[in-house]
Formats: sequence, C-alpha cells, structure tokens
Amino acid sequence: MANAEFGTVFFDEITLATFDGQAWSDTAFVPSDSLPLHPATHVLHYASTCFEGMKAFRTTDGKINVFRIDDHIARMQNSARALYLPIPDTEQLKSMIIDLLAKYREQVPAFPGAAYIRPTLMGTDPSIGRAASPSETAMLFVLISPVGDYFTPGAEMRVLLNTTDLRCAPHFGAVKSGGNYASALGLVMQAKEKYGTHQVIFAPNGDVQETAAANCLLINDEEVLTKGLTSEFLPGITRDSVLKVAQSLGYNVTERDITAEELMQWTNSGEIALSGTAAVLAPVTEVVFDEDIYMVAGGADSPNTMKIRQALNDIQCGKAEDTFGWVTQI
Ligand SMILES: Cc1ncc(COP(=O)(O)O)c(C=O)c1O
Repeated sequence: MANAEFGTVFFDEITLATFDGQAWSDTAFVPSDSLPLHPATHVLHYASTCFEGMKAFRTTDGKINVFRIDDHIARMQNSARALYLPIPDTEQLKSMIIDLLAKYREQVPAFPGAAYIRPTLMGTDPSIGRAASPSETAMLFVLISPVGDYFTPGAEMRVLLNTTDLRCAPHFGAVKSGGNYASALGLVMQAKEKYGTHQVIFAPNGDVQETAAANCLLINDEEVLTKGLTSEFLPGITRDSVLKVAQSLGYNVTERDITAEELMQWTNSGEIALSGTAAVLAPVTEVVFDEDIYMVAGGADSPNTMKIRQALNDIQCGKAEDTFGWVTQI
C-alpha cells in the first residue's frame, strides 16, 4: 500500500444497499472487486451519481476516528436531492460506513495514512430512454481505500488562475457529482500541458471560486480569507474545519468574494492554500496568470498554512481534544 497510487487499494468488501422504488434494502457486505450492471443502467448514460470523500484516522491508542461523518452524510443527501435520486437514510448510511470500518479496522493505516471512505449513490433504472427523468431505483455503496499521505511537505504546487471558464454548470457547483469532474478535466489537462500546472483555480469573471477538487483560501499572519458559500462551488468540509480551527487559533476569519486581482496581490506577501479531504491544507507555491508565473510569498513552507493544518490533523488523529465534536470514534 505504501507505494500504491492514492485510491487504488481497497478493503476486500464494500457495504451495499439498493432502493427498489419504494424502500431501501438491508445492507449487505459484498466483494469490492466487481459490480454487475445492466448496460442500460441510468448512471452510465445520464450521470445520475453523487459521492462523498471522507477519512478515518487511527489514533495512537488504536481507536478509529471518523471525521465529520454526519456532515458528509448531510452533504451527500443534498447532492442526492439535486439529482432527484432516492435519499440515503442517515442511520443506514452511517452504519454502512462504521460497520465496514469496524470489520476491517486492522487495515486502517497509522497517521499520516488514513482510510479514505467513498460512499457512492447511483441511479440504476435499466433504461436509456430516461434522459429527462430521474432514476427511480438506486444503488448505494461504501468503498474504503487505505491511503498514505497525499500531501508532500515542501512540494511545488503551481496553479493556473483561470478567469474565463467555469468548473461546471453554476447551479451544480455545490453538488458532488461525477459530471462536474468530467466537465473540469479538459481545462485542467490543457493547463497542465501548456503551463505545467497541477491545478486550476476557477475564477470566472475574476470571481475566485475553487479548483477542480479543492477549495481555495488566502492566509497570512492575521487573517484567513475565502469566498462565502454559494451554489456555484462545493461547500468543502475541510474548508469549514479550517475556518473554525483558524478562528480558535486567533486568526480573523472572513468569508467574502475575492477578485483575481486581489489574489494576485496576495502572492506578494501572503500564503495561498487549497483545502480538501485528501490533502487537508496544502500551500500553493506558484500562480500562472496572464501568461506569467508568479511565486507565492509563503512558498512551500507557508508557516500559517502549516500551523492550521497541524492543528486540524491533531484533532483528526486524536492528539488534540475534539472541542468541535467532529469525531466519531470506533
Ligand atoms: C470540487 C471540490 N471542491 C472542494 C473540495 C473539498 O471538499 P472537502 O473538504 O469536503 O473534501 C472537493 C473535494 O473533495 C472537491 O471535489
């Protein structure tokens, strides 16, 4: 696992439940290596899918800490609603996650590794005639991948600040659905080929939103600044956690619109960070804007970013008290 690509190794089983149009089935444990689907399955044609990404951490005394499980379930239910899919039952989905983790708890790696938890919901009506109607049946499963540290300390991270394009349809930005990633992929690949960037910060008309897979924050010695939530981008749970932890550390936390010009000015003296479950909080080291490359003052060391990241990690892996009530311990 230590050398495996992130997200390519799995527990031997998933937990799975189906919705038949009326009710959810009981949860079953089934092998994680195959999923028989009819070729007409709704999700394969009309992208009726949403998912979550959350983590569980092994504590030094051998407990398993699941981070913000209720918030991830609530976000998944919102995504399901937007897709007109059957809404997963809160308690059932929670048990699908906890029971699978409990069964394979020995395979949850020690920190900085973690179990990356991927609940997935998809429309399963066997019909290619329902482009404009929702799937009445659905499948819900929880897939878990033991992962190493996604974050490489000191690594360069070059991002393109793109002020022209949208990551996805603006009314769907807060929905964690596969199609949004497909929609951003070409733009991320073009930036990579042209500028050697790792990520693209989408800032349509100069309004700084997020990258294809992370939220964006401006940080300095006093302040943490990020765009206030809208339907246009994902309400990241790491973003929310970072804001609350930063406030508890004494930073002034501001949620407001940020212009591309402001972000570029910030590169002169501050830190820019990307937040998400996989990488937690990672410093941006270079921004490509208007065909030029600008170094971010904070660089790979970005001390404030690293301090907030550490404080969050300490809560996640049980080194610091969970004053926010974010951890479910197994
Ligand atoms: C588009 C997008 N924005 C933001 C995030 C960060 O969300 P979270 O912190 O809940 O992982 C993610 C990642 O999962 C994402 O895919």
